[in-house]
Amino acid sequence: MSKTGKAKPVDDLTEKEASAELEFLAAEIARHNLAYHQKDAPEISDADYDAFVRRNDAIEARFPELVRDDSPSQSVGAAPAGAFGKVTHKVAMLSLSNGFSDEDVVEFWTRVTRFLNLKEGDALEVTAEPKIDGLSASLRYEHGKFVVGATRGDGREGENVTENLRTIKDIPATLKGKNIPDVFEVRGEVYMSHADFAALNKRQEEAGKPVFANPRNAAAGSLRQLDSKITASRPLRFFAYAWGDQSEMPAKTQAGVIETFAKWGFEINPLFRTCRSVEDLITFYHDIEMQRADLGYDIDGVVYKVNRLDFQQRLGFVSRSPRWALAHKFPAEQAFTKLLGIDIQVGRTGALTPVARLEPVTVGGVVVSNATLHNEDEILRKDIRIGDTVVVQRAGDVIPQVVSVVLDKRPRGAEEYKFPETCPACGSHAVREINEKTGEMDVVRRCTGGLVCPAQAVERLRHFVSRNAFDIEGLGEKQIAAFYADGLIKQPGDIFTLEARDAAGLKKLKDREGWGGTSAKKLFAAIDDRRTIDIDRFIFGLGIRHVGETNARLLARSYGTLEHFIEEMEKAADPESDARRDLMSIDGVGNVLAEALIDFFAEEHNREVLKSLSDAGVVAMPLPAQETSSPVAGKTVVFTGSLERMTRAEAKARAEQLGAKVAGSVSAKTDILVAGADAGSKLTKAAALGVNVISEDEWIELAGL
Ligand code: IVH
Repeated sequence: MSKTGKAKPVDDLTEKEASAELEFLAAEIARHNLAYHQKDAPEISDADYDAFVRRNDAIEARFPELVRDDSPSQSVGAAPAGAFGKVTHKVAMLSLSNGFSDEDVVEFWTRVTRFLNLKEGDALEVTAEPKIDGLSASLRYEHGKFVVGATRGDGREGENVTENLRTIKDIPATLKGKNIPDVFEVRGEVYMSHADFAALNKRQEEAGKPVFANPRNAAAGSLRQLDSKITASRPLRFFAYAWGDQSEMPAKTQAGVIETFAKWGFEINPLFRTCRSVEDLITFYHDIEMQRADLGYDIDGVVYKVNRLDFQQRLGFVSRSPRWALAHKFPAEQAFTKLLGIDIQVGRTGALTPVARLEPVTVGGVVVSNATLHNEDEILRKDIRIGDTVVVQRAGDVIPQVVSVVLDKRPRGAEEYKFPETCPACGSHAVREINEKTGEMDVVRRCTGGLVCPAQAVERLRHFVSRNAFDIEGLGEKQIAAFYADGLIKQPGDIFTLEARDAAGLKKLKDREGWGGTSAKKLFAAIDDRRTIDIDRFIFGLGIRHVGETNARLLARSYGTLEHFIEEMEKAADPESDARRDLMSIDGVGNVLAEALIDFFAEEHNREVLKSLSDAGVVAMPLPAQETSSPVAGKTVVFTGSLERMTRAEAKARAEQLGAKVAGSVSAKTDILVAGADAGSKLTKAAALGVNVISEDEWIELAGL
């Protein structure tokens, strides 16, 4: 592990060192909280995170006067993300204090006994249950009806995800049974099972979407979708284990309340037990540890809770956690092995990902021979070298990772790893972009090969023929992949010479499996139909980074003809050129976009792609002239919901003709939101931002259509 692992013992720290380290820890923990809770993209393992928190706590215990206002001990989690409404928790959602060893459990038991002043022989019951590795949610029921549901957020205030929670089948809309309290907030964990996680990732992959690193991230990402239809399509589950605000308690013990939850219609964890001694707790922990791999969902420890609610009341809280509970965490599953090599994989978007090739080793019952190294900076930070003995960890995560290097075992002469600057799949330059917002270099190095890179070609070709680009009927992902594999279509120009080559060739398309005379003819006609195409679709189809439909249209409008556009982009490579100045002066073009464009047109192979399209007779038509006198000229418009009097494409085209800018999402820059039937999250967001929302009819009137 990083800084904390090699750090000085707390007892040896000077006050100055302690203060500096607390400052570092506050910033570091805050950053990881954000990555974990808001971006669903943790950068470090839970074990490393816990070590940071423990170190912070230990230093604060020795130097209580140095506790900072922004110390992680003063808050939990991260503030909510903003896109959802906020819910203030009437009873704060706190976290649990952690234990890591059997001794910690004994200490917990002793502390509780002492606090309650129990005498030897006095009964103490403590419940034990798995600690589910998902995300917690609070569900408010009024008169038995589910009325509002929220995430934990920073513990005090969470996000209103009611509609998304309603899609989870383990969460009843109405509580079953009699004597339901007027108000009751049920709390528990939203999670995804291993099987559902694997199936979801498979679907994501097939759809060319990013996969989730682990079930927890998948659950968090799914629950925080702005469109609850997407959440509904994700198989989330829920275990009820705690409560918040309530008008009346249905039982006097933890176990009694949990039983009531089951009667009300909730799923409760079947492994829940009531224990009567500290030995029982420890046995329970080790039993669960054995069963962990077979449970079908991720857990990261077990949770103990004092059973009697009056005892819980007396024990109360210390800072951010109840004194009556303990989370007994599992150690991350780690093993030592040798790093045999580093493979660079090229993803469909050109991202270069380093993968460790390892001497096979068993980690937590699974043989691991590959592990992620995340990215270039991580290799550098951990100073990982080929030949090193490394620590590999599986934790709750599905993808094993290389945690650290055992420096003592480094073979002599092991050289610092040099990350390749060319793509291993095609030899093109691989570059790291500068993030415009942060001014920092992107962590991901990407291949600039685009269409000539075999790792990216199929994806790029698929994009080229997609609905909003060339939209060639009968040429979908499947056909593209098959034609690419057979060498029939290697790059876009080949699509337009397919018919001529087919006529001259021996093996005809109509004779291929799955094709016949009619379908082949149809495909050729569909291709021919697109030989003349709108310039914005043409530009979009090229798949230049950061050039989505909106930017493609912006560029088409700004440059008029394709020839002029290409010429200007080539000239703009010179930073002192007029072309560069013109490009930068376009409203909506920033450094990142400009650089992506210049890079694209500077690459020889991209120019070849353009030339082969032009040689194949593909012509880009300039956009029709824009009106400037219309009432919507210069306004940013967003369409949402289903339109009844025209198609979305028509509405967009007309709006642009009238001089409006059509955006895909609502932001502070949006002037008008045209809301059709069944408008969803965009409408909510527009309302929150005070954007002018009009109906389809009002739009037609305003635009004078
Ligand atoms: S009890 C007052 N029980 O762990 C504390 N928490 O570190 C109430 N968690 O935010 C929480 N399984 O997300 C409790 N069986 C369980 C749990 C559990 C998972 C999570 C929960 C909470 C975090 C606390």
